[in-house]
Amino acid sequence: MLSGMEEYRTKHHLKKQSSQEMPDIPDGSVNLVVTSPPYPMIEMWDHVFASLDPKIGKALAQKDGELAFDLMHKTLLPVWQEIYRVLSPGGIACINIGDATRKLSDDFRLYNSHSRISQDFARIGFQQLPGIIWQKPTNSPNKFMGSGMLPSNAYVTLEHEHILIFRKSGKRVFSNRENHLRRESAFFWEERNRWFSDQWAIKGEGQSLKASGTRERSGAFPFELAYRLVNMFSIKYDTVLDPFLGTGTTCLAALASERHSIGLEIDAALMNYARKRITTSVDLINSFIANRLASHEKFVNNGLKELKYRNLHHGFPVMTKQEVDLVVRYVSGVSASDIGVKVTYSVDPP
Ligand SMILES: C[S@@+](CC[C@H](N)C(=O)[O-])C[C@H]1O[C@@H](n2cnc3c(N)ncnc32)[C@H](O)[C@@H]1O
Repeated sequence: MLSGMEEYRTKHHLKKQSSQEMPDIPDGSVNLVVTSPPYPMIEMWDHVFASLDPKIGKALAQKDGELAFDLMHKTLLPVWQEIYRVLSPGGIACINIGDATRKLSDDFRLYNSHSRISQDFARIGFQQLPGIIWQKPTNSPNKFMGSGMLPSNAYVTLEHEHILIFRKSGKRVFSNRENHLRRESAFFWEERNRWFSDQWAIKGEGQSLKASGTRERSGAFPFELAYRLVNMFSIKYDTVLDPFLGTGTTCLAALASERHSIGLEIDAALMNYARKRITTSVDLINSFIANRLASHEKFVNNGLKELKYRNLHHGFPVMTKQEVDLVVRYVSGVSASDIGVKVTYSVDPP
């Protein structure tokens, strides 16, 4: 039971290691996974896959796209199996993945990673839940591939990615203590309507990593995307894992949502970048939280009718009884040590 000084505190462990094995993470100790692996057959990830299996480099050099695609997914498989082991019953895995289009030998073709990952997860024993199409608004609507204005060898442009959602072992069952935290972790009625749509239009994240001492582009997903998933599929003081940490967006979203987190990353420079990011983003997180609360107030104040319910912690009206105990706390302190990052929270604005 959380009490006294320990009440509002989370821990975040970032580790440089390959997530193909996670020996330090006990079975059933993680409640949610939010992640995005390197994307098979997208050129920027070729060297990462080739470093995990040299046969991939050879297959690419021989322009055998089918084989390279298969081998790339085989390097991801042990990570998916580890995710299944470390998730608790009812735990959720959200996998952000983009399909690839590429011309390696003669023919331009689609490499369908989202269906391959869905099949691999099903074989491991996960149940697939309805997923989300992430539409990335584009600044270049006129780009086209193939034969231009002439049929029939023109190709549809991929302007979306998938967020695949899987569950381990049926619906989660909550203990008494968890039931209390679950009510505190509720989201607003108007957020539910937006977040549980199967199509999200969220602008992509800035990708430049030039100052970080690692590769040039990060492949990062937006904070908003990770924040929604963390709040939709976990409760406060749960543990959220990202086995492909990158710039640390999932850990940042977990931190901002009063969840513990674990992040694994094979690139040491990137891991240090992520650590720095999560220890220096308090102001950004607090302004995100202030905006979230302000949007809710705007929503309820613009309503036409008097609302029946009032939130216990924030005092503003809410649409439903389920939002009465909801509490969104600000980050009041972050301290980093060798073993991780510790965070404290307060309901009062900084
Ligand atoms: C698509 S990026 C993740 C981006 C992340 N979601 C973010 O917001 O920054 C995938 C990351 O996984 C890392 N990676 C690839 N294979 C890995 C492995 N086997 N174990 C741990 N990290 C790995 C890559 O270095 C890369 O940073």
